[in-house]
Amino acid sequence: MNTPYLAEFFEFLRFQSISTDPLYAPQVAACAGWLEQKFQRMGLETRVYPTDGHPIVVARSERKPGMRTLLIYGHYDVQPADPLDQWTTPPFEPTLKDGLVYARGATDNKGQILAHILGVEKTLKETDDLPVNVVFLVEGEEESGSESLGRFLEEHKEELQCDLIAISDTGMVARGIPALTYGLRGILSMDVKLCGAESDLHSGIYGGVAPNPATLLARLIASLHDERFRVAVPGFYDAVVELQDWEREEWARLPLDDDFFKKTIRSHALMGEEGYSAVERAWGRPTAEVNGIGGGYQGQGSKTVIPREAFAKLTFRLVPNQVPEAIEASLCAFLKRICPPQVRMEITPGHGGEPFLCDPHSQDALAARRALVRTWGVEPALIREGGSIPILHTLRRTLGAEILLLGLALPDCACHAPNESFPLENLEAGIRLNQALLEELSRVR
Ligand code: BES
Ligand code: MN
Repeated sequence: MNTPYLAEFFEFLRFQSISTDPLYAPQVAACAGWLEQKFQRMGLETRVYPTDGHPIVVARSERKPGMRTLLIYGHYDVQPADPLDQWTTPPFEPTLKDGLVYARGATDNKGQILAHILGVEKTLKETDDLPVNVVFLVEGEEESGSESLGRFLEEHKEELQCDLIAISDTGMVARGIPALTYGLRGILSMDVKLCGAESDLHSGIYGGVAPNPATLLARLIASLHDERFRVAVPGFYDAVVELQDWEREEWARLPLDDDFFKKTIRSHALMGEEGYSAVERAWGRPTAEVNGIGGGYQGQGSKTVIPREAFAKLTFRLVPNQVPEAIEASLCAFLKRICPPQVRMEITPGHGGEPFLCDPHSQDALAARRALVRTWGVEPALIREGGSIPILHTLRRTLGAEILLLGLALPDCACHAPNESFPLENLEAGIRLNQALLEELSRVR
């Protein structure tokens, strides 16, 4: 298969636009520059704004009064590619195999935002006009917490004024089964470090005498859950809104049983809070996760040492109406209380984002659902999802516009993991979706 836009997709994917590691800042900036040129070639009024972090790209069609304005948000930054040895083909050398494009960022979010860009380009080519005004807002810090974008929105809200926001940075239920996502979990991240002796020590000379921060960290982490995998931080569930009956029923009808999850993640077992189905736990329940853990010797062979320190990188997924700041306060109090007296604890709070919920039955949501039907030929499922887009709340509040989440990611796309992929079929569908969406939205009211 060869498509005119495959070369462009590959160019976009070759940038190592990893936002979390400052080492990659030049590649992130180069990727923003590529977008700038793409938008300019489409005839859009384009600006790249430097920030304290990574650049923000804004591109707009000529603003026609009396027409609605749609803002399309996406991100051009990607997660780190490691573990590199788990990739079949190099993460930044995009490879097409059996209809799938393999590369870091193929799905999250380069393929999905490019589909919107190409959709607008196609409509402009075909009709030299758009049915609604369009503003693209593409940032480079989503995967590291969107820190610059919050301030940027406040400073540029006139320029970004819009009636509605569309985002494709979420998932589909399965191949060919589209979804309108009406909820996402929020997030709170935190690094915890336990410090013992001043220096690493010989574990024969000092074993049984010196405090071992790795051992104590394991205990600390184990205390985050009870034996039924409920989060054991006092107050953690206080604000949680229970799932509605209609949601449980709608989700139970989807082909997402335990076996589906086991197959998708290729694991013989699942793990999570008792009393909820897997899909309920993933979309509608809060969690505590260890994303990384370290300390002591990590190399080949053995080394008899008592590490001077050990650390864990934690994130908590939050659901309506949990508030990241309140959860952070409960968590810090809890950790301080259970911190073993033999070590000193350092807590470094990270990024946060509120959980998101919107009305899947609004006039605009119905228009989006019609666009999904036109694209895929079947009714979209109404779903919530477990991932987070930290800026959603700020976007909605600052711009005063509702958000439509129309994702193209497949459950097995390996987002954030080795061998991330995106089907060309979804790139093409995404282009049609964008065209149908603009048309349907122009007819509302
Ligand atoms: N596209 C994802 C969010 C997502 C994933 C939504 C799956 C729905 C389903 C987004 O790019 C992402 O990965 N966000 C991070 C945010 C974090 C780094 C602050 C996430 O959810 O881990
Ligand atoms: Mn994403």
